[in-house]
Amino acid sequence: MTEIRATNITWHDGHVSRGDREKLLGQKGATVWFTGLSGCGKSTIAFTVEHALVERGHLAYVLDGDNIRHGLNKNLGFSAADREENIRRIGEVTKLFADTGVVSLTSFISPYRKDRDQARRIHADAGLPFVEVYVDVPIEECEKRDPKGLYKKAREALAAGKGMGFTGVDDPYEEPLNPELRIENAKCTVQEAAARVINYLEAKGILPALE
Ligand code: ADX
Repeated sequence: MTEIRATNITWHDGHVSRGDREKLLGQKGATVWFTGLSGCGKSTIAFTVEHALVERGHLAYVLDGDNIRHGLNKNLGFSAADREENIRRIGEVTKLFADTGVVSLTSFISPYRKDRDQARRIHADAGLPFVEVYVDVPIEECEKRDPKGLYKKAREALAAGKGMGFTGVDDPYEEPLNPELRIENAKCTVQEAAARVINYLEAKGILPALE
């Protein structure tokens, strides 16, 4: 766990509560955390859920791994320490988004269980819903799709004796033990996957059911 380095800092409460913001938006804030191998379809599902929620009149926003690595996390690579810092920051950012009343959807491989659990913990401490969605697709299938050609690159690097620390090829992925949802995305359409997430949010009272 990262400790606070700064000294002489004091927590300052504002005058507007989370409840005030949620009333303003007419919804509850929450985080939906997608995890799974590269190419398993996390981002596609997350963007589909975001679209569906906005169409229903809810404010939702996707934090996507590849996109965030172009900005906020542009100074991070793929070492274990950098992946940990990547997920630590996103855990904090998505918690802030959820606290504003937004349904925040994250799409990161997030390969380490302890880092995902830490994101879960800070949400629990803040009384915010955290929904872990394991997009479970066998590596063979992800590799067959290989939308960015990165599995091919990783195999070539490995064959050349260098390796590139690619998740599932020569870097670990720790499966969630107890996710709120597990979606076998090779066996369903993106619409079915998105519907499972939305139904879950309704069942938990995070989203009101459609009239
Ligand atoms: S995480 O492991 O730190 O959670 P993140 O989701 O931000 O990863 O980024 C993963 C994306 O970066 C992959 O979908 C892929 O497009 C790209 N990528 C580039 N190099 C690697 C690598 N060595 N391992 C995994 N993904 C990589």
